Amino acid sequence: MDKPTITTTDDGALLTVRRLVESDTDKLIAFVKALSVSARYFRFGQGDYNDDLEEALHACVMNPDRGAHLIAVASRGPDEVVIGSARYVIQVDRTSCEFVIVVADKWSHHGIGHELMGALIDSAKRQGLRKMWGRILASNLDMLAFVRGQGFEISDSPDGAWQKIASITF
Ligand SMILES: CC(C)(COP(=O)(O)OP(=O)(O)OC[C@H]1O[C@@H](n2cnc3c(N)ncnc32)[C@H](O)[C@@H]1OP(=O)(O)O)[C@@H](O)C(=O)NCCC(=O)NCCS
Repeated sequence: MDKPTITTTDDGALLTVRRLVESDTDKLIAFVKALSVSARYFRFGQGDYNDDLEEALHACVMNPDRGAHLIAVASRGPDEVVIGSARYVIQVDRTSCEFVIVVADKWSHHGIGHELMGALIDSAKRQGLRKMWGRILASNLDMLAFVRGQGFEISDSPDGAWQKIASITF
């Protein structure tokens, strides 16, 4: 994504979707710490917040050659709060990418996921990528419904019935 997109949330906050930069790290950490155990589990594969996760978040800024990390930021003045995060990593074939996404619990069902996912797909297309896919727990019914609504197809995972693969070809 070259330019941030700026809209308004349905309750009047300013919503900016843009690339994560180094100075966002503390805001990203606060966002991940405040997630519910289940949202953290679905996104990171672990419900608890620990030093390993914090270390990984410190290294979250992505070189465009490797992919993109976008954040959704809400503001009502000078203060910015991260309310969503989505990223993709370009695979070795250089034509496909794996994505992940998470939205703050108290902001779910406000269209933030749609904004982030749309910007993520735009960014991948702009980079010349042809396919985006993600691993989703079979028990994560909200996420499966969400990606279906975004035009992704769901297939079985070679890793087992506990996991599904969501993919979209551009
Ligand atoms: C799955 C997830 C990303 C969805 O995010 P979200 O911000 O709630 O998504 P949206 O609000 O854009 O869309 C969800 C639903 O809300 C509703 N919705 C959309 N815009 C809305 C609005 N402006 N107002 C109210 N409801 C709205 C729609 O019913 C939508 O369902 P649809 O996709 O069938 O149309 C979020 O629940 C999440 O972070 N889950 C935990 C992490 C996770 O599971 N990650 C997946 C593994 S990487």
